[in-house]
Amino acid sequence: MARDVFIVKAVRTPVAKAGTPKRRGTLEFVRPDDLIALTIQGLLERVPNLPTDAIDDVVIGSAFPEAEQGFNIGRIAALRAGLPVTTTGQTVNRFCASGLQAIIAANDAIAMGRCGVAIAGGVESMTRIPMAGHQPFLNPALAGAHSATYISMGMTAENVAREYQISREDQDAFAVESHRRAIAAQRENRFVDETLPINLNRVVYENGRAVERSLSLITDEGPRADTSFESLAKLKPAFTTTGSVTAGNASQISDGAAAVLLASEDAVKTHNLTPLARILSFATTGNDPALMGVAPIDAIPKALNLAGLSSSDLGVIEINEAFASQSVAIIRTLGLNPTIVNPNGGAIALGHPLGCTGARIFTTALHEAHRISARYFGVGMCIGGGQGAFAVAERLG
Ligand SMILES: CC(C)(COP(=O)(O)OP(=O)(O)OC[C@H]1O[C@@H](n2cnc3c(N)ncnc32)[C@H](O)[C@@H]1OP(=O)(O)O)[C@@H](O)C(=O)NCCC(=O)NCCS
Repeated sequence: MARDVFIVKAVRTPVAKAGTPKRRGTLEFVRPDDLIALTIQGLLERVPNLPTDAIDDVVIGSAFPEAEQGFNIGRIAALRAGLPVTTTGQTVNRFCASGLQAIIAANDAIAMGRCGVAIAGGVESMTRIPMAGHQPFLNPALAGAHSATYISMGMTAENVAREYQISREDQDAFAVESHRRAIAAQRENRFVDETLPINLNRVVYENGRAVERSLSLITDEGPRADTSFESLAKLKPAFTTTGSVTAGNASQISDGAAAVLLASEDAVKTHNLTPLARILSFATTGNDPALMGVAPIDAIPKALNLAGLSSSDLGVIEINEAFASQSVAIIRTLGLNPTIVNPNGGAIALGHPLGCTGARIFTTALHEAHRISARYFGVGMCIGGGQGAFAVAERLG
């Protein structure tokens, strides 16, 4: 018999643009295990009546769980955040859905009675761990039947644009709107409640001497108020010379972390917690890896059916904007109301720190559902390798 599970808090860091060979990243000096630990500490500061020894498990999503994201980052994050050694930790990987899958794993463990309180979330430093990892070893046996398994995500977006007839103009218009919404959300302080500002000191070496410098990241770095249809039209295709996917209509590579606190009904009562939401359903679906971006076309109705709802019942939908082409294809094919999909902008403007994103967009959707008093909200994404995921939740309180 499944027990009731409640989401009682959700926070995230601001999303930073990742460092690349061309530019420095604001969070490039921050290890991802430190970043998620800071996020967990910030989460717990917002729930002061919860004793840390009540936290049974920490479940952290990461798309490339290696290097500073490795060694079972769930356990490292728990220890680094100062949780007692009795709090266990695990790592979850479903690529771009990792942060959402971590929330579902924690939810299911509480529902089954395996734990009472859990922290779930995600983290990715795309500065420090590149997409595909530091040393990819591709399986040549997949080259025949599943040759698209390892192709660049940008090429899958080109495939979707071609197959679903999403023009360059459609993609750029969608990207302009993503930036417009994100800038409007920032100007109206809509992200303030969900965001943990990062203020750190770090030591750098300048002219052979160690110097302490302060680092401050208060808001998401990606949104650009100067984004226009005209400026995006000038950008060259990023993944193939003849294509339509550009740096302007693709998600940005980013660094970030997000964390959510989940508790059983007993734990809510014992620790006097305030339920904010509960998860009603979750579904994943698989499709051709070459068209991975449209997999949510199946996952969204599957999850809605499990919840006994239809898309018109949702007041807020967050669908990760991996690329404009796949976002437009999903919205059009399912006939979703575009005004409620990513109302505060998506990953094209805000960035897409892979393993963090599922927890980031869940956090954003939860806060938006409270802001506008929407009863139901949905959160999902496409996933490299040909998968889609979608969760349906109910706002409480
Ligand atoms: C597309 C991609 C390769 C671009 O990377 P990049 O070159 O480092 O991107 P930048 O931010 O430097 O932008 C490139 C150019 O576009 C311009 N640009 C980007 N967004 C813009 C905007 N909104 N308005 C105007 N210009 C913009 C930049 O100013 C830059 O111009 P410059 O070269 O003159 O400096 C990278 O973002 C990417 O790989 N995205 C997809 C990530 C992915 O696959 N995630 C998984 C999804 S499943």
